[in-house]
Amino acid sequence: MAKGQEIRNPRARQRAMMIVAGPEDADLNELAELLRTAGVAVAGQMAQKRTQPDPDRYFGKGKLAELKRAIADCDANLVVSDDELLPRQERNLEEAVGVPVIDRTALILDIFASHVGSSEGNLQVELAQLQYNLARMRGLWTHLERLGGATGGGVATRGPGETQIETDRRLARDRIAALKRRLEHTKGTRSIMRRERERAALPTVALAGYTNAGKSTLLNALTGAEVGVRDRLFHTLDPTTRSFEISGRSFLMTDTVGFIRKLPHQLVEAFGATLEEALEADLLVHVADASAPEEDLRPMLEAVEDVLAEIGAAERPQLLALNKVDLLDHERRRELSFRFPGAIPVSAETGEGLGELREAIETRFLSTLRPMDLLVPYDEGGRLSELHDVAGEMEREDTAEGVVVHARVPAAAVSRFERFAVNGSP
Ligand code: GTP
Repeated sequence: MAKGQEIRNPRARQRAMMIVAGPEDADLNELAELLRTAGVAVAGQMAQKRTQPDPDRYFGKGKLAELKRAIADCDANLVVSDDELLPRQERNLEEAVGVPVIDRTALILDIFASHVGSSEGNLQVELAQLQYNLARMRGLWTHLERLGGATGGGVATRGPGETQIETDRRLARDRIAALKRRLEHTKGTRSIMRRERERAALPTVALAGYTNAGKSTLLNALTGAEVGVRDRLFHTLDPTTRSFEISGRSFLMTDTVGFIRKLPHQLVEAFGATLEEALEADLLVHVADASAPEEDLRPMLEAVEDVLAEIGAAERPQLLALNKVDLLDHERRRELSFRFPGAIPVSAETGEGLGELREAIETRFLSTLRPMDLLVPYDEGGRLSELHDVAGEMEREDTAEGVVVHARVPAAAVSRFERFAVNGSP
């Protein structure tokens, strides 16, 4: 059964040996970070440079013997691979080294499962876990079937293991179908909420960024919201939306799930709901951890861009916020300002640069606004406060017929106020 589930509780005592095989020099920092988040200690690491991982065992045979010795030397009781393993690679590795083996995907799923907050998030994580496990069960089933064949057993001698697994698979499929139905339902509810927001026509800013970049902290700093912030990966799993004001205009700001390099594809789908927020935002603020070492910063920026492209959000208007500048010296700040001329240096922690970030957000919107001259009759006075919400500061003059207003209106709200337009404005 799923290794991801086995490690859930006793992981406090777990000591992992990290492994990676591939053509490039391996960087296991992120895997170590993921393990830290899951509460697993890192006992050691081993890399094998080869064109591609061995299709049956991940590592080559000689390297496997070396791995087994290393595991004993550093007293590891778990092996974690940086790549997603094929079921047979996982099984063969486990047989060869004698300790449980899990892969990066199982680890991420485990972290997601223990951090998830909302009911929709729970459904999504359970779905992703089941789908992942179902693939593993298939592998196991084939394995058992072969064993049955080897002992000469026919249909009549199918072992209980196999029957059990068939039942498990059927149950898993039923559960997957049920989860999908429930998710469809919550999706419907969310689109009703979205329509409500559209009716309010408030411009929406989505924060996207690598996990631990400081998105939740920035959301708090800009909106004064109480969102849980901890120095842990994936703390934010569900869209958290808050409103804030710039020059009297209301904006909605929404946090998205933290991005990571090599995000397993099941998870891109599973967390599509959170990322949908990014897809539909008027503006994406890409938050990066500027205090990360140079060699980490670029892959992290690229990982976010890749996922945004994958979900079709690459074309959204974007701003880059280089966060945690409080941790940088003068030299590094200068370097980054040359490298990323359009980026806004900020510190969500100290508040530095937040004014500039607000201005940059506003400037992006101003270019999309439509100037309108309106005459709002006194008996429709309620419209004025609605207009104020979406248009912010506006010039107004009381006349005999009503209030004459000059306002800059977001494109999405123009149709609501068109009937008050005067002087040929739309
Ligand atoms: P995920 O939920 O994992 O995606 O993380 P996140 O991007 O929402 O990051 P979060 O806001 O949880 O911050 C991660 C850590 O960075 C926390 O320990 C914050 O206190 C810290 N942090 C955030 N912004 C700043 C900053 O401007 N300066 C410093 N020094 N630390 C910061």
